[in-house]
Amino acid sequence: MGSRPRLALVAALAAAALLAGVAAAATEEAYVTLLYGDEFVLGVRVLGKSIRDTGTRRDLVVLVSDGVSDYSRKLLQADGWIVKHITLLANPNQVRPKRFWGVYTKLKIFNMTSYRKVVYLDADTVVVKSIEDLFKCGKFCGNLKHSERMNSGVMVVEPSETVFKDMMRQIDSLPSYTGGDQGFLNSYYADFANSHVYEPDNPSTPEPETQRLSTLYNADVGLYMLANKWMVDEKELRVIHYTLGPLKPWDWWTAWLVKPVGVWQDVRQTLEESLPGTGGGRNPHDQLVVKVLFILPVLLLLFGYYQSCFQTNKDLLSIRSLCAFARRARYKYKSDEALPSYSAAGVSSSAFANSDQRLSHGTHSRLPSYFGAIAVLASFVSAGVSLAFAFTIIPQQIMPWTGLLLMFEWTFVSFFLLFGSYLRFVYRWGILCANHVGYSRLDSSENHMITGRHHNTSECDIDATFYWIVMAIIAIVTVLSPTLLGVTALFAKLGLMVAGGVVLASFMTYSSEHLAISAFYKGQRERNVSRTRSICFLF
Ligand SMILES: *[C@@H]1O[C@H](CO)[C@@H](O)[C@H](O)[C@H]1NC(C)=O
Repeated sequence: MGSRPRLALVAALAAAALLAGVAAAATEEAYVTLLYGDEFVLGVRVLGKSIRDTGTRRDLVVLVSDGVSDYSRKLLQADGWIVKHITLLANPNQVRPKRFWGVYTKLKIFNMTSYRKVVYLDADTVVVKSIEDLFKCGKFCGNLKHSERMNSGVMVVEPSETVFKDMMRQIDSLPSYTGGDQGFLNSYYADFANSHVYEPDNPSTPEPETQRLSTLYNADVGLYMLANKWMVDEKELRVIHYTLGPLKPWDWWTAWLVKPVGVWQDVRQTLEESLPGTGGGRNPHDQLVVKVLFILPVLLLLFGYYQSCFQTNKDLLSIRSLCAFARRARYKYKSDEALPSYSAAGVSSSAFANSDQRLSHGTHSRLPSYFGAIAVLASFVSAGVSLAFAFTIIPQQIMPWTGLLLMFEWTFVSFFLLFGSYLRFVYRWGILCANHVGYSRLDSSENHMITGRHHNTSECDIDATFYWIVMAIIAIVTVLSPTLLGVTALFAKLGLMVAGGVVLASFMTYSSEHLAISAFYKGQRERNVSRTRSICFLF
């Protein structure tokens, strides 16, 4: 009777010993990544989260160099990483890309002799399925990629002082085709291309010096982009590697270009708030900038609108002007002829010149022939500068949607201000010309004809508003069309964007000319009035 509890006790002890043994083995093995600067911190956080999500008990070690801030180290520690400081290993190559200064540091994973085995992953990878079976791989395992080269993005390494010292001895003599660690490793393991593929369920004996890993362990996004699909069984995919040069998954715009970035962003969203304000991969500084960027243009516009419009055109937002706006929009569709200033804004400059002649019986050379071309140039330069400006001020690592919204907001506002300034300049120019040439020679009927239905300021502004809105709509539809239509292939996507861009450019050509001409004539008409009244902000 007494033997049963004793048996249970023995079993429990045995189980405990076994567990302890497993735990000990687990800490002899580690996932390792490298971090040179704060730019890649989010990548390491997401990688760590994706590894922990596979349920591993092994150590997660990040080797950080001097370029990483204390805050980032604390953050990674709070995320569960073991943070180890390392000094950079200088790159012996004279000819190499500038960013490769410290990449030889990666060789230091061969010196992590406190671990029996390490699985190394680049900071721009994400684990989508457990890769614990990699720890059974031999002394050195990596992927072959792009012909016969070994890719150092995912490697299994058995740290060894002997190997590391041997590498250090040869570091100056062995060539590196990349000018970095990857090239060096390709020279060091010169016969790597001939290695057998590692099969977790069927390990080779005796253990070979090097083994190749299946593409599943280092699936290159570049390859996905070519075929718009994974060329391996997608369900079996283990590690995605975001190799596309500057298109890193943490930059907000890549999610709009590269479909597999969605996988990365999904993991990012689940990041815990290990330090205040860092949940979902946010960072407190960017959050503040984003808030300011969202609110600032709104305040700016409200202020400007109040300043220059509200006081002079109190009815601008009234129902009456909305009706006028609708009437005017319909009018445009119905007939071009009724609006001389409209046809004057023809796309080609010759059409423009003709109508200019037709319009300016007595007052010749009021509009120089290059007027339209300059207006178009001004609008395109404004658009280009606005885009570049918006892109520069938006933090890079925010969420894709936030980035896109901010991009729209700031591009529109900057364009509005820039091209608006140009129109104001043209308006002043109109005033100036009128005073020079003697606009009074024009009789009132002709004046009426030139200016079409532009009877008062608010109608001009409505005209402008119409163009602004159409431009904005075309821009938004262009950018969102691939998403709305479910187009994921890069080239189809680019094709759609280009098509939308052409439509937008044509419309901009047309409307910028028209707006500039209207502004000019408006200046002439109001040469006396406007001295005392400020021009509307919209125009
Ligand atoms: C390699 O590891 C040993 C033992 O941990 C350490 O003393 C040595 O400084 C390391 N070498 C380099 C170049 O980091």
